[in-house]
Amino acid sequence: MASSNIIEAKNLKIQFQGKIALSSLSFSIKKGEKVALIGPSGAGKTTLLNTLATIIKPDEGELWIDQLSFKEMQNRKMLAKKLGMIRQQFDLVDQLPVIHNVLAGKLSDWSLFKSLLSLIYPQEKILAMNALERVGLGDKWSEKTSNLSGGEQQRVALARLLVQKPEIILADEPVASLDPARAEDVLAILTKLVHEEKQTLITSLHSVEYAKKYFTRIIALRDGMIYFDLPAHEVSAKDLASLYVLKEKV
Ligand SMILES: Nc1ncnc2c1ncn2[C@@H]1O[C@H](COP(=O)(O)OP(=O)(O)O)[C@@H](O)[C@H]1O
Ligand SMILES: [Mg+2]
Repeated sequence: MASSNIIEAKNLKIQFQGKIALSSLSFSIKKGEKVALIGPSGAGKTTLLNTLATIIKPDEGELWIDQLSFKEMQNRKMLAKKLGMIRQQFDLVDQLPVIHNVLAGKLSDWSLFKSLLSLIYPQEKILAMNALERVGLGDKWSEKTSNLSGGEQQRVALARLLVQKPEIILADEPVASLDPARAEDVLAILTKLVHEEKQTLITSLHSVEYAKKYFTRIIALRDGMIYFDLPAHEVSAKDLASLYVLKEKV
């Protein structure tokens, strides 16, 4: 395996109740790439991201994350160093002040005692404050998380990722629940931070326009297979039209 590949997938196959969700998928991703996964609903984007996150075990095929096999990735501490996840529904604890949600990015590093103590006296507060500054929420650290808007909550999730510092960020439709202006704002911050931190990003997206604007590579999935895999600037209107065309009923 070439060492510059941070992800290598070979013939990944996943079925749900006998129905194929991913069909013999092979690809590799280099460190620092920003990959957008696009494709119609049901194409397999979420399944692929959950497989890369080692939440779903492939039925067949092999997967290496930074040269570690699927089995070696089961160590929780190790996993948190390698992979960070961000989702459409933010996964924040609404009732807690913002700073606690940011510090949740550190939990896999901390002992149980330190984690509990942090709920009363936030530990490593400066780290969290710096992360909040970088996402433009420096003044919101003590605010109850549920009082923030959707766009701000997703930026809290980005600050949590900054504190966690994983090498790879997997994001499943991270802006799907935001209005277009907030969506672009969050994507612009996410891709900027990933660039500054020299991380690798793989994101599923509805918006082809944002995929082309903010990502270096676009992998299109359809029916659990790779439909095309191109540098973002090479994806044509024709490629996109045929990707999303409705299949004729037979
Ligand atoms: N937990 C599950 N149980 C059964 N079928 C599933 C499950 N998750 C996904 N699928 C099926 O796998 C296929 C791919 O789904 P998904 O990965 O969610 O696609 P996408 O994220 O591109 O919309 C779909 O046919 C979907 O119905
Ligand atoms: Mg999905």
